Amino acid sequence: VILWGANQFVGHLREVNRRRAALMHQAEYSNKLASLGRLAAGVAHEVNNPLAIIGEKAGLLRDLAERDTDFSQRARVLTTLDSIVRSVDRCSAITHRLLGFAKHMDVHHEVIDLRTLLREVLGFLGKEAEHRNISVMIAAEPVLPTITSDRGQLQQVFLNLLNNAFAAVTDGGTIEIAFSVPRPGEIRCTISDDGVGIPTEHLERIFEPFFTTKGAAGTGLGLSITHGIVTKLGGTIEVDSIIGQGTRFTVILPVERRE
Ligand SMILES: Nc1ncnc2c1ncn2[C@@H]1O[C@H](COP(=O)(O)OP(=O)(O)O)[C@@H](O)[C@H]1O
Ligand SMILES: [Mg+2]
Repeated sequence: VILWGANQFVGHLREVNRRRAALMHQAEYSNKLASLGRLAAGVAHEVNNPLAIIGEKAGLLRDLAERDTDFSQRARVLTTLDSIVRSVDRCSAITHRLLGFAKHMDVHHEVIDLRTLLREVLGFLGKEAEHRNISVMIAAEPVLPTITSDRGQLQQVFLNLLNNAFAAVTDGGTIEIAFSVPRPGEIRCTISDDGVGIPTEHLERIFEPFFTTKGAAGTGLGLSITHGIVTKLGGTIEVDSIIGQGTRFTVILPVERRE
């Protein structure tokens, strides 16, 4: 009896330790992401003013060059200035996204039907789905409770996840959205794609700001913003992926507001 009891106790201790380690790991990771997010917003803020000046001066030079018709390198200077202005516009779109993210962190609560919200978001992507012959399915599920949360921010969350899923699948691919109630008071939404998948060494980095595998086409901000919003709304987000087979993001949100 003593041996059995001791064994039980040791087993229990091990389990408690394992859970504590997992929680610590999670807390550390959220902290890291939060400070990276703040850092990114801080940098965006600092870069924004000089960027505005570059854009303004380039615009001024362009106006001058446009007026001065007998200037020998005029055409070349004009195209160069155009490309400067375009690049500045691209940079300021990025800094504004980062700053907007920091600013929009105050939450506006409303009663939301998550399924309807997803249909709305899918509306933005309908053209691309049709064009690339991607089938997007919303699994039929039991009646879901409505949730009290922030509509605009949730739209952003699901738009980011769906954009990534669209980018991951080939033409003719499949994206599946499913809902369930894992525990009373919570709704789980999963977005699964049959796309390229994410290699293990990337899995732990995808939520970091600026992590992207899309080269110049990506900003690496989508998932970091998504993670920030979901956490702020009292939820969690997780990812599983098998390389070459697909990826599934799982978002769990509280039904009642919780911050
Ligand atoms: N559904 C997905 N399938 C495969 N890879 C994904 C998926 N979602 C995200 N990723 C990976 O995570 C990276 C970061 O995503 P994100 O933060 O949205 O930035 P971006 O889309 O600008 O690259 C992507 O570049 C991609 O490598
Ligand atoms: Mg993205």
